[in-house]
Amino acid sequence: MMPSSPDTIVMIEDSPTEARLNLSYLHGENYRIVHGATGRAGLRLLEREQPDAVLLDLGLPDIGGLDILQWISDQGLETSVIVVTAAAGIDTVVSAMRLGAFDYLVKPFGADRLRITLRNALEHRHMNTLVDSYRASFEDGFLGLIGTSAPIQAVYRTIEAAASSMATVFITGESGTGKELCAEAVHRASPRCQAPFVPINCAAIPKEIMESEIFGHVKGAFTGAASDRKGAAEVAHGGTLFLDEVCDMDLGLQAKMLRFVHSRRFQRVGESRERQADIRFVCATNKDPAAMVAQGRFREDLYYRLHVIPIHMPRLADRGDDALKIARHILGLTADQEGKRFSAFSADAEALIADQPWPGNVRQLQNVLRKAVVLHDGELLSAEMITIDPQATSPIPFAAPSPRPPGARHPAARDIRPLSEVEQAAIEDAIAACAGNVTAAARLLDINPSTVYRKRQGWARDAAPQPDPPLAKKNP
Ligand SMILES: Nc1ncnc2c1ncn2[C@@H]1O[C@H](COP(=O)(O)OP(=O)(O)OP(=O)(O)O)[C@@H](O)[C@H]1O
Ligand SMILES: [Mg+2]
Repeated sequence: MMPSSPDTIVMIEDSPTEARLNLSYLHGENYRIVHGATGRAGLRLLEREQPDAVLLDLGLPDIGGLDILQWISDQGLETSVIVVTAAAGIDTVVSAMRLGAFDYLVKPFGADRLRITLRNALEHRHMNTLVDSYRASFEDGFLGLIGTSAPIQAVYRTIEAAASSMATVFITGESGTGKELCAEAVHRASPRCQAPFVPINCAAIPKEIMESEIFGHVKGAFTGAASDRKGAAEVAHGGTLFLDEVCDMDLGLQAKMLRFVHSRRFQRVGESRERQADIRFVCATNKDPAAMVAQGRFREDLYYRLHVIPIHMPRLADRGDDALKIARHILGLTADQEGKRFSAFSADAEALIADQPWPGNVRQLQNVLRKAVVLHDGELLSAEMITIDPQATSPIPFAAPSPRPPGARHPAARDIRPLSEVEQAAIEDAIAACAGNVTAAARLLDINPSTVYRKRQGWARDAAPQPDPPLAKKNP
């Protein structure tokens, strides 16, 4: 974005020849340049002008250039400083950079070098302004998501950009990173926000009733279908249908889903009439969808239909200060819900929260804090009240069979798979969920990483076609 008014540059340079030379180099650029010929004059200009960039000679007669830098930093003046030094003064450059200078120029330098360095400095300055203003505007959260770190701001920007379109948003991320909250944010930011947001968990619902959950059914369609019932597709009409854990959808249903996503047409189970749905899809998974496609467990054509606007929810550990911001938010909510007085963390609790790796992300943070709030009393929540249960640190299990709801039948004999197959699937799932990180996967599975490597080698051997002897060495 081009700023409308020219950038202001303060040049602090005692040599009139060099000052003139710099001005001639910058002639024709859209800058307002003000010149101070001494350190003292320079300080007055800095105070008055709030410049976007400063060209600071380090060899001034009255005040040391480093002292001026120190002053800029003490005042919290937001500007990009380029220090200028003679070759002999090069060792001061290191100190200048430590004091926050953006870049340096060694005399003599040419016009191009000056122009480019200055342009970079200004760009940096504008970027910072942008980040700061974004940060300030998200201090109270973005549609329910708390956090101002750079990776979560990137998520906010994608949500904003995608919200108004019908394009499917595909959210990936580890368990507990806020995928569902993100899906809701997409809905709330969209023109469909007045219509329903309907989440449907493709992993938790047994496949026998999944189809009717999504498309509905008519009376008598199957045993137990006592009356007509709308499915999620109809309930979400005009709004957003959120397919959670989409990679776990039964393969048979994936074929029906493909047609539905493509045409937005569907039939209730047991009915031949076609219905049209006006819905926007948002999907989420904690698996690596590409790996699921590679394993043949997620249809490639469906993947390409759904994977239009990807959003990756960053791990909580990669969000800097956000863990603490979210923790404060959760503490407030939880204390209210539990009728407790807790209003803040002690310093040691804050340090503990900031230092944790949070493998279960926000959900784990939430559980840990709820437990502390329930078990203790007071205004300040301290570190000793917080217990981080190692059991609770592993994300939600990936390959664990979905809990059978009461009344659901036991699986039929034909659905039982050999244990070795189940084991392989569990291990591959865990690796996919850990984005290929075998050590992390092994930790989740509570087995030794070497076991995983050994088993994988075995499977690769079994799967490889038998080579024709003698073994030809392939060129890469
Ligand atoms: N940035 C955030 N700010 C505030 N609360 C958050 C944030 N992210 C997640 N939460 C809260 O953490 C919990 C977990 O979030 P959510 O259910 O959206 O995560 P998920 O990625 O879908 O997890 P899972 O993979 O376990 O389904 C929710 O209660 C949610 O409200
Ligand atoms: Mg979820």
